[in-house]
Amino acid sequence: MELVVEEKLQATGVQTQPLPSVDFAKVWRERLIADNPKGRLDPEIDRRFWASIADDYDRQIEASGSCKRTLEMIGRWLRPTDTLLDVGAGTGRFTLPLAAQVASVTALDDSPDMLRVLAQKIEVRGVSNIQLLHGAMESIPLPEHDVVLAAWSLYRQLDLPTTLRRLAAAARRLLIIVAGHPYTPPHRPLMEKIWNLPPKDAFPAYLYILGVMHQVGLNAEAFVAREMVCHRAKVVETLARKLAPEHASPEEIRRFAALLRPKLQRVGEDYACVQVSLAGLIVHRREDAFGPVFE
Ligand SMILES: C[S@@+](CC[C@H](N)C(=O)[O-])C[C@H]1O[C@@H](n2cnc3c(N)ncnc32)[C@H](O)[C@@H]1O
Repeated sequence: MELVVEEKLQATGVQTQPLPSVDFAKVWRERLIADNPKGRLDPEIDRRFWASIADDYDRQIEASGSCKRTLEMIGRWLRPTDTLLDVGAGTGRFTLPLAAQVASVTALDDSPDMLRVLAQKIEVRGVSNIQLLHGAMESIPLPEHDVVLAAWSLYRQLDLPTTLRRLAAAARRLLIIVAGHPYTPPHRPLMEKIWNLPPKDAFPAYLYILGVMHQVGLNAEAFVAREMVCHRAKVVETLARKLAPEHASPEEIRRFAALLRPKLQRVGEDYACVQVSLAGLIVHRREDAFGPVFE
């Protein structure tokens, strides 16, 4: 069978080349160090950062995009009897909706302020199957759960191989990682022009995580969730204000609105801007896990 494939490839002139060996862990580490202008690789500084925005985090993430498709994909891999460890749970964007689909969730986070906001939401909603755990994923003993999830929380992990091994060891069945997949929305170049912003980050974090998983012998699969949010408003300036950086002046908003107008769609009486973002999902299944994983 293999020979037939090889002959067919040769007939089409396709050459098979040995794959270059890439040290994903090294590139990941170098990238984190290069991208650290605010010093958030230091846990203390990172905790201060989360303390400063914890109460506003939900509003900010809602404005920046959706995680609906990501949640749907994760939900399909879970079982009602599962226990879930949400690592870097933050204010519970994943913890709360997933708690409705599993037996119980442990929400681990290194920021007491993010956990405080999550605790308030748990109380208001009367959810009884979530417990909070304060600590850093790289040092706290990780309790075993059926599924371990780390969504948008590996950005401080300089020693990614060791952290991934720790997370995988805590997962009885599945380890799921959610991380960035680069995408540049059409209005971004306009913003870069007006506010002199650097070009949007094009680092496919989830692919490097996948690479590191393979480096440490953890077989994993990659998926991409396409998230869409439609911002609508009757007046273009209102949309421009929504998309603009917080510090934008009224004059800058007016300039942005003028450049944005030709790029918008009309939906009834509204102007609409469809904002797409992509999330990379990495799933590792324990080889000795019992039963079918993806039904
Ligand atoms: C971008 S937020 C993501 C929160 C949530 N998973 C979500 O998607 O909305 C990152 C969270 O990870 C937490 N975090 C970062 N490094 C951590 C670490 N080493 N151990 C535990 N939590 C960590 C931060 O405190 C923060 O709450």
